[in-house]
Amino acid sequence: MDGQLHKDYPHDAEVFVGKDRSYNVVGDIELDDPDGSKPETQDHYCLCRCSGSKNKPFCDGSHWYIEFEDEKN
Ligand code: FES
Repeated sequence: MDGQLHKDYPHDAEVFVGKDRSYNVVGDIELDDPDGSKPETQDHYCLCRCSGSKNKPFCDGSHWYIEFEDEKN
Protein backbone atom coordinates (compact mmCIF):
# COMPACT_ATOMS: atom_id res chain seq x y z
CA MET A 1 0.00 0.00 0.00
CA ASP A 2 1.35 3.42 -0.93
CA GLY A 3 4.50 1.71 -2.24
CA GLN A 4 5.33 0.30 1.17
CA LEU A 5 5.16 -3.18 2.63
CA HIS A 6 2.96 -3.08 5.69
CA LYS A 7 3.72 -5.94 8.03
CA ASP A 8 4.30 -6.83 11.63
CA TYR A 9 0.93 -5.77 12.86
CA PRO A 10 -0.48 -7.89 15.67
CA HIS A 11 -3.46 -10.07 14.86
CA ASP A 12 -4.79 -13.33 16.19
CA ALA A 13 -4.11 -16.29 13.92
CA GLU A 14 -7.04 -16.73 11.56
CA VAL A 15 -7.92 -17.95 8.07
CA PHE A 16 -11.10 -16.57 6.61
CA VAL A 17 -12.79 -16.63 3.23
CA GLY A 18 -13.39 -13.41 1.37
CA LYS A 19 -16.74 -13.18 -0.44
CA ASP A 20 -16.06 -14.26 -4.05
CA ARG A 21 -12.34 -13.92 -3.52
CA SER A 22 -9.32 -15.39 -1.72
CA TYR A 23 -8.53 -17.20 1.49
CA ASN A 24 -7.15 -14.57 3.82
CA VAL A 25 -4.45 -15.67 6.22
CA VAL A 26 -3.49 -13.44 9.15
CA GLY A 27 -1.63 -13.79 12.41
CA ASP A 28 1.80 -15.17 11.57
CA ILE A 29 0.70 -18.51 10.11
CA GLU A 30 3.54 -20.25 8.26
CA LEU A 31 2.73 -21.32 4.70
CA ASP A 32 3.75 -24.94 4.09
CA ASP A 33 3.86 -25.04 0.28
CA PRO A 34 5.40 -28.09 -1.46
CA ASP A 35 6.75 -25.80 -4.19
CA GLY A 36 8.48 -23.61 -1.62
CA SER A 37 6.45 -20.45 -2.17
CA LYS A 38 6.79 -17.93 0.63
CA PRO A 39 4.66 -14.84 1.20
CA GLU A 40 6.39 -11.47 1.48
CA THR A 41 5.20 -11.36 5.04
CA GLN A 42 3.88 -14.20 7.13
CA ASP A 43 1.69 -11.76 9.04
CA HIS A 44 -0.91 -11.58 6.30
CA TYR A 45 -1.32 -12.99 2.84
CA CYS A 46 -4.07 -14.17 0.49
CA LEU A 47 -4.29 -17.58 -1.16
CA CYS A 48 -6.09 -18.12 -4.44
CA ARG A 49 -9.23 -20.23 -4.42
CA CYS A 50 -10.55 -19.30 -7.85
CA SER A 51 -7.64 -21.05 -9.67
CA GLY A 52 -7.20 -18.00 -11.91
CA SER A 53 -4.11 -16.50 -10.28
CA LYS A 54 -0.91 -16.30 -12.29
CA ASN A 55 1.02 -16.22 -9.02
CA LYS A 56 -0.26 -19.35 -7.28
CA PRO A 57 -0.62 -20.15 -4.52
CA PHE A 58 -1.19 -16.45 -3.91
CA CYS A 59 -4.13 -14.36 -5.02
CA ASP A 60 -3.19 -11.80 -7.68
CA GLY A 61 -6.64 -10.26 -8.05
CA SER A 62 -7.59 -12.38 -11.07
CA HIS A 63 -10.79 -13.49 -9.28
CA TRP A 64 -12.19 -10.07 -10.09
CA TYR A 65 -11.39 -10.29 -13.82
CA ILE A 66 -12.77 -13.81 -14.23
CA GLU A 67 -15.81 -12.81 -12.17
CA PHE A 68 -15.31 -15.65 -9.70
CA GLU A 69 -18.42 -16.37 -7.67
CA ASP A 70 -19.06 -18.76 -4.82
CA GLU A 71 -22.71 -18.77 -3.85
CA LYS A 72 -21.81 -20.02 -0.35
CA ASN A 73 -18.98 -17.56 0.27
S1 FES B 1 -8.83 -15.84 -5.43
FE1 FES B 1 -7.85 -14.07 -6.11
S2 FES B 1 -6.84 -14.69 -7.91
FE2 FES B 1 -7.84 -16.47 -7.25
